[in-house]
Amino acid sequence: MTAPSAAEIARAAALLRSGGLVAFPTETVYGLGADARNPEAVARIFAVKGRPQNHPVIVHIPQMDHLRYWAREVSPLALALARAFWPGPLTLILARARGVGDAVTGGQDSVGLRVPSHPVAQALLRAFAGEESGRRFDGIAAPSANRFGRISPTTAEHVRADLGSDVDMVLDGGACEVGIESTIVDCSHGAPVLLRPGRISADDIAGVAGVMPLAATRAATRAPGTLESHYAPRHPLRLVRTADWEKALAQTPGRRAVLALREQPKGDPSVRWIRMPQDPTRYGHDLYANLRALDACDCEVIVVEAPPDGLRWEGIRDRLTRAAAGG
Ligand code: TXA
Ligand code: MG
Repeated sequence: MTAPSAAEIARAAALLRSGGLVAFPTETVYGLGADARNPEAVARIFAVKGRPQNHPVIVHIPQMDHLRYWAREVSPLALALARAFWPGPLTLILARARGVGDAVTGGQDSVGLRVPSHPVAQALLRAFAGEESGRRFDGIAAPSANRFGRISPTTAEHVRADLGSDVDMVLDGGACEVGIESTIVDCSHGAPVLLRPGRISADDIAGVAGVMPLAATRAATRAPGTLESHYAPRHPLRLVRTADWEKALAQTPGRRAVLALREQPKGDPSVRWIRMPQDPTRYGHDLYANLRALDACDCEVIVVEAPPDGLRWEGIRDRLTRAAAGG
């Protein structure tokens, strides 16, 4: 596996402490990191991404006991979810502690927190945390390391292609294992609310919480992941149900690129056809890299075969539905 050296991790942590921006791998997607306690550094994230300032960002912490610096109350539900899924691809929304700045919360009374499992993210978080000249460093704010509204990066190459020299350093940890952004569960109002589906499914949450998470209502969240046009490739993306597949393809002549669960039939004229894995875990791992590859080819439209029903596919259906809405 690709892994930065100890010296590179130390340089990245020092950059963050001095207000710089460092892109780093997590098990979900690459994050664009800044010192979560430094409002100017966090403001730079928004400027580089071209993201509205009032959107909250996730604060990444090295381990669960850092929750006390960020959350004023950790309910038994939140604690159970953290114990079950951290380190891992789950973000918890909790009531924010005193002194947690508006820069990371978007002015809301809650804060999003996650302990990532990726060894490079872990090494960076640990190297960053600590005291220096009377200042405490204990969390890295990081949205996905892409321009606002575009596809999240799952390799260091994607980050460089998107952000270029706007980022001070990119830590290369190879391709992200999960491949789609973390599951977000709001625990700040009692019953769990699923704000964004991901690899950890509603079923997985229910297995720990004892109840199915509620679906998010549009008004209840300011998450940009809930904007319809998020995660969009440059070319229009058409999401087609399996039952309508042949007809829809016949009605989409011209230079089309295809992402499908099935093989390309002999004689099919698509400029590029990528066959996806039948399993949601492997599908998620490949999704964004393949969408980027199709987006980069000489096509006019990307036609995607809708993935199957079922809770394990919910995160993938969610991203594809948004990508289709954004075209
Ligand atoms: O997998 C991930 O979550 C990646 C990696 C880098 O950790 N990060 C990520 O960040 O996807 P971002 O900013 O692209 O999406 C985070 C989502 C946003 O939709 C944001 O609005 C939501 O989390 N969020 C963060 N804090 C929140 C809060 N206090 N209340 C509601 N939503 C919040
Ligand atoms: Mg994002």
